[in-house]
Amino acid sequence: MSAMLEGKTALVTGGSRGIGRQIAETLALAGAEVVLTARTREAAEQAAGEIREKDGRAHGIALDVSDDVSVADGVKAVLADYAKIPILVNNAGVTCDNLILRMKSEDWNTVLQTNLTGVYRVCKAVVPSMIRAREGRIVNITSVVAGIGNPGQTNYAATKAGIEGFSRSLTREVASRKITVNCVAPGFVDTDMTRELDEKARKTLLDQVPLGRLGNPADVASAVLFLVGDGAGYVTGTTLHVNGGMYM
Ligand SMILES: NC(=O)c1ccc[n+]([C@@H]2O[C@H](COP(=O)([O-])OP(=O)(O)OC[C@H]3O[C@@H](n4cnc5c(N)ncnc54)[C@H](OP(=O)(O)O)[C@@H]3O)[C@@H](O)[C@H]2O)c1
Repeated sequence: MSAMLEGKTALVTGGSRGIGRQIAETLALAGAEVVLTARTREAAEQAAGEIREKDGRAHGIALDVSDDVSVADGVKAVLADYAKIPILVNNAGVTCDNLILRMKSEDWNTVLQTNLTGVYRVCKAVVPSMIRAREGRIVNITSVVAGIGNPGQTNYAATKAGIEGFSRSLTREVASRKITVNCVAPGFVDTDMTRELDEKARKTLLDQVPLGRLGNPADVASAVLFLVGDGAGYVTGTTLHVNGGMYM
């Protein structure tokens, strides 16, 4: 096991499945003590248990990023147990797709509350401890659709573009405290989120990807590992695109 992240606690939101699950495992196998979250403790602990079986250090907690109290209580509990959170990966995200003509306020609000306000909530809870420690790496997971748009995803694309603007502003606020803030923008990745696409939609998508395949969670996790590692100490305020050349 590489010990690149030995002694560092990493909080990964939405770590029970898909990209977040792989990020949690990758950071744990690089030596980090990972706290991964999901809306239920059972889902988070199930994923953490699988990582422990591979000799990674991981612990699962319930933390719903769309809920002020859940975030405040969850982060407080992590800080009580680990004292510092030098690595934060804001990965939790949802979609409620619909064309604007059919999009209900509820679909708009759910996606905004989870994806965008969720990143604000978790950063607001974690950043004070990073400032005190004069140490922090924040990675926010956005999406290729922040740059290129996607019909049916006005809500989702707005959150992902919003996170990128939020991240650039936060970068300027906290850089003097040795905290970096970056985004990773995946293209289309094979997870529960994209498995609902029918064959036709999948083919249309693949035609737009020069590398000719969907991404996998490990492609995204490798980019996160780079941004939280020693080699990225001078990288901040940027968006790293992991999309097979779909958008450049
Ligand atoms: N898949 C793609 O093609 C793709 C492309 C670009 C960007 N992304 C982004 O990558 C991230 C992960 O996507 P994915 O494809 O891995 O999605 P996924 O398979 O649907 O997993 C989503 C994760 O987020 C958690 N989650 C959802 N709502 C939450 C909440 N309110 N509080 C805490 N956790 C919550 C889920 O946990 P529970 O359901 O157990 O609570 C789950 O662990 C998202 O931000 C997504 O927008 C994905």
